[in-house]
Parts: sequence; C-alpha cells; structure tokens
Amino acid sequence: MSLDLDRYLAERRALVDQALDAVLPVEGTTPPTVHKAMRYSVLAGGKRLRPILVIAGAEAVGGRADTVMPTACALELIHTYSLIHDDLPAMDDDDYRRGRLTNHKVFGEAMAILAGDALLTLAFGLVAANASRVADPRVICAVVADLAHASGTDGMVCGQVVDIESEGKTVTPDTLDYIHSRKTAALIRVSLRAGAFLAGGSAAQVRWISEAGDRLGLAFQIVDDILDVEGDSATLGKTAGSDERKRKATYPALHGLEVSRKRARALLDEAKERLAPLGPPAAPIQALADFIFERRS
Ligand code: IPE
Ligand code: IPE
Ligand code: MG
Ligand code: MG
Ligand code: MG
Repeated sequence: MSLDLDRYLAERRALVDQALDAVLPVEGTTPPTVHKAMRYSVLAGGKRLRPILVIAGAEAVGGRADTVMPTACALELIHTYSLIHDDLPAMDDDDYRRGRLTNHKVFGEAMAILAGDALLTLAFGLVAANASRVADPRVICAVVADLAHASGTDGMVCGQVVDIESEGKTVTPDTLDYIHSRKTAALIRVSLRAGAFLAGGSAAQVRWISEAGDRLGLAFQIVDDILDVEGDSATLGKTAGSDERKRKATYPALHGLEVSRKRARALLDEAKERLAPLGPPAAPIQALADFIFERRS
C-alpha cells in the first residue's frame, strides 16, 4: 500500500500546531510584547518540516509521535528563531515571511531579536522536559548536546556566518556546500536523529537516518535557492528574488538551474538508498524526499 503523504503531513501538522500553541507562553502574560512576537512568527504556519521529521525519525524505528512531541516543538522553535533573525535588516533584510510581514516589521528589531532569543531558550527547556516521556532519560543529554552542536557555531550559526560573509563574492562549490550543509542541513539532520534516538533506535538505525538527513537537508536548501529564482512570492510567502538582490552565494548562481535541479534529485535518491535498510517504517521519510523536490513553497 502506498503512503498518502498529504494525509500523513496534514495529520502530523495538526498535532504539531496544537502542541506548539500549548508550549508557547500565553500572549497576555508578562512581558506581553515578546510573547506576542514569539507567537506571531511560530503560529504563522510554515510547513512544519523539522518537527514532522522528528516524528518520522521516531516512527522509522518503531516509536510514536507523542513520545517525541516536546522535542519536535523544540526543533520548530529553533527553526523559527533562525528565520526571525535571518530576516533582520542586518542579515537578509526581508519584509515577508510565512505570508505575513516579518517579525521586525511588526514588533521592531529589538523585540524580534529578543523573540528569537526566547524561542531558542524555550526550545532547550522543552527537550529537557521530554525526559519524562523516554525510557532512559540519559538519551536527553545526548539529544541536548546534538541539538546544541547542530544549532551553534559548528552548525546553523556557522552556515549563517559564512553565508553573510560570502555576499557579493564568488565562492567555490565546496564553500557553497559548506554553507548549505551548516545553515540548513544541520537542523534537518538533527531533527531526524533526535526522533530516532529518543524512540530507542539502534546505533546503526541512527546512522542510516543521519546520513539520509545530511542529503535531505542539502537538497532542501538547493530547492530553496531554486524557488527563490523560479517561485512566486505569494506561493512562497516570502519575497522571491531576495538572493539575487543580496548577491547571495546560491546553487543557481554558481551552478545554474539545471545542474542545481539534478544535484538536488541525486542527493534525494541517495537519501532514499540510505533509508532502505529501515524498511516500510521509513516510508514517510522516503516520501518526504520527493516532497522536498516537488514543493512549490
Ligand atoms: C526556510 O525554511 C529557511 C530555510 C532553511 C531554507 P522552510 O522552507 O522550512 O520554512 P517554513 O518553516 O516552511 O516557513
Ligand atoms: C536561511 O537560508 C537558513 C536559515 C538558517 C534561516 P535563506 O536565507 O535562504 O532562507 P530564506 O530563503 O530566507 O527562507
Ligand atoms: Mg539567509
Ligand atoms: Mg533569508
Ligand atoms: Mg532562501
């Protein structure tokens, strides 16, 4: 029986959205401005890819969504913080995100920075709180370390630093892969890994999933670069053409659209091969690989 991915995504998105609403501070509680700013960007929608990958990672090794939900929410909070900061005037200077004005356009730069800081901090609190749902709470320490590594100056922040420092320059193909692997693939990989690890996956299962995650993550950013050229702002929910305006180091700028598409497809096929030993429980991750290639937003 083939997997109905639309239904799979819709069901898990609904669970994630409900959980996010519950873990975010209530809007009216002190200090209200920052709580409003946090809720504004997180609850604006988005594909919820990272939390769904945490769940899919758990399911691939026989686990369940409710076991990993606090960590799934944590991944979405870290991702949303990275988007709020990525859009700031000092970084990509973008006005639209998830179909609405960017956080700093509504709440001002200071509050957008603080909302991002607060989301990152809340995320680590949620991973700690996930201890009550796992058989061996020691895995929580490993997930915290993994997540810190993927988010920090060897992961997402590192990629963002080199991305900013490469604006207006011609980078080598290796540098471009270095940027993309860190700014985007690191969080996608750790989403899958954390899910598998929390659900009691074996070392081999976590390794297969991590290797697939590297490839899914790099392909995801290549497709993001392609959509910035080919997509339309209304569907994307953010302004197309932003990369050219900022003279960003991107796949289409360095390799052209056709080579970029081929590389994304090849990476996704490689990811699927890595997942093969996991068998049918990894079918949702396999289907997500195709979704990453075909998505329009
Ligand atoms: C956008 O991520 C930023 C990148 C890492 C490319 P998404 O395309 O997953 O954004 P949302 O979460 O759906 O808004
Ligand atoms: C951002 O990459 C990656 C992050 C860590 C947020 P982009 O700058 O290409 O993401 P978009 O296109 O603004 O969503
Ligand atoms: Mg950026
Ligand atoms: Mg950006
Ligand atoms: Mg982009």
